[in-house]
Amino acid sequence: MAPDTPPPPGNPGSAHPREPRSTEGGPTLADLERRAATPAPHRPAGDDALIVCDRLVRIFRGDDVEVQALQGLDLLVREGELTALVGASGSGKSTLLNILAGLDVPSAGSAHVAGYDLLAMDARTRLRYRRQVVGFVWQRTARNLLPYLTAAQNVALPMELTARRGRLRRPDRERRARELLDLLGVADHADRRPAQLSGGQQQRVAVAVALANDPAVVLADEPTGELDTATAAEVFAALRRANAELGTTILVVTHDAGVSTQVRRTVAIRDGRTSTETLRSVTADGQGRTRTVSREYATLDRAGRLQLPPEFTEPLSLRDRVLLELCPDHIQVRADDTADDTADGATDDTREGPRPA
Ligand SMILES: Nc1ncnc2c1ncn2[C@@H]1O[C@H](COP(=O)(O)OP(=O)(O)O)[C@@H](O)[C@H]1O
Ligand SMILES: [Mg+2]
Repeated sequence: MAPDTPPPPGNPGSAHPREPRSTEGGPTLADLERRAATPAPHRPAGDDALIVCDRLVRIFRGDDVEVQALQGLDLLVREGELTALVGASGSGKSTLLNILAGLDVPSAGSAHVAGYDLLAMDARTRLRYRRQVVGFVWQRTARNLLPYLTAAQNVALPMELTARRGRLRRPDRERRARELLDLLGVADHADRRPAQLSGGQQQRVAVAVALANDPAVVLADEPTGELDTATAAEVFAALRRANAELGTTILVVTHDAGVSTQVRRTVAIRDGRTSTETLRSVTADGQGRTRTVSREYATLDRAGRLQLPPEFTEPLSLRDRVLLELCPDHIQVRADDTADDTADGATDDTREGPRPA
């Protein structure tokens, strides 16, 4: 939280659903008994992540075509992370974000955000989820802001739309709106309408709107897609500031390769699945010089499946089936060199294949 910005009272958006407390502060015996009897929000074992997608599938059915936009996607995002999501057009990025935003429902698999089960929300919970648990920034600047309201009024609007219980009073809403605009570097434009703002300024106001109800997660779908590079960098800096100063978890879709150098974690989607992940870390040497190290990882799903990138498989002609060999600290993947002589009467039945070296 920024200094002087108290969390809206009773706002469930900032944390997992909360436990009741006794007046002394600790849980009473009755609380503990109730807690033991209530199943905890479902989260797969070992996952304390804020966003947990497990084998997520989304199929769109048309008259005679079927598109599998998500094909068993796995994703974990921890609280407080700023993650970039990259991938070719049509790889399923927007489909995923619409599901996480509570606007669309997956065909199969599971998805949980901040303890909410996205496949099992009733209409009321879904509305509250969309208003208070997630914030959204769209690519089209015009979609994010109401044209007849000023920047400050746009930011105050989501706070007015929350449930009466826990709603901030008007002066507090106005103060918070101005604080958010200040954080994102657009305080000077608080009283202008969107048409009087540049595209970059509009998107920074849109980030403030998304943050208005102190959501657990902000989702942004190509928020810089309509902007030039310099302006896009400003919007990205605003997202980074929101993440650093407010601790908000942010998932941002981008096709701008430069952006992935500005975040710690980049997840790549290919054909409706997460395929690789790049982590960047800054290390310091003895002389106090810092160096940024990027490492690309492949995603290993719960069933042990792994997608080998074409940059690796093509030069070695790896296809159809490969030989695996377990070595003390790694696994070897080799082309099937017997592929051509199995049919010509070879009688040697020495077994090779997945085995410890
Ligand atoms: N409402 C829809 N109806 C039919 N097909 C859709 C719909 N939304 C997306 N798709 C298809 O799903 C695939 C993934 O789309 P999308 O998630 O928008 O990709 P991205 O955002 O990565 O470009 C594409 O083949 C797209 O045509
Ligand atoms: Mg898209």
